[in-house]
Amino acid sequence: MPQIFVTTAKGETHTLNAEPGTTVMMAIRDAGLEGLLALCGGVCSCATCHVHVDPGWMAAAGEMSEDESELLDGSMRRNEHSRLGCQILITSKLDGLRVTIADED
Ligand code: FES
Repeated sequence: MPQIFVTTAKGETHTLNAEPGTTVMMAIRDAGLEGLLALCGGVCSCATCHVHVDPGWMAAAGEMSEDESELLDGSMRRNEHSRLGCQILITSKLDGLRVTIADED
């Protein structure tokens, strides 16, 4: 099973097992890490699963949809590494992925 490395706002890094076919948001939520609310449950309508992807992993994380980009536009924390965790699908390609949970707006 792919492992992903998630850093919280407090700077703690956790190693999570992420089931292929689920999402980065689901792995973080299921692990109960602080700072990721995922209020809409993963349907790309709340932006409370905002993460910053390690620069070396941006390409592997896949393309961002227009809807995702529009939602992220509402965040003051958006930067070039921003993604919504619920829109990053776990595959074996993402074994070793590193993300940081974005601070709340
Ligand atoms: S959980 Fe709501 S946009 Fe990702």
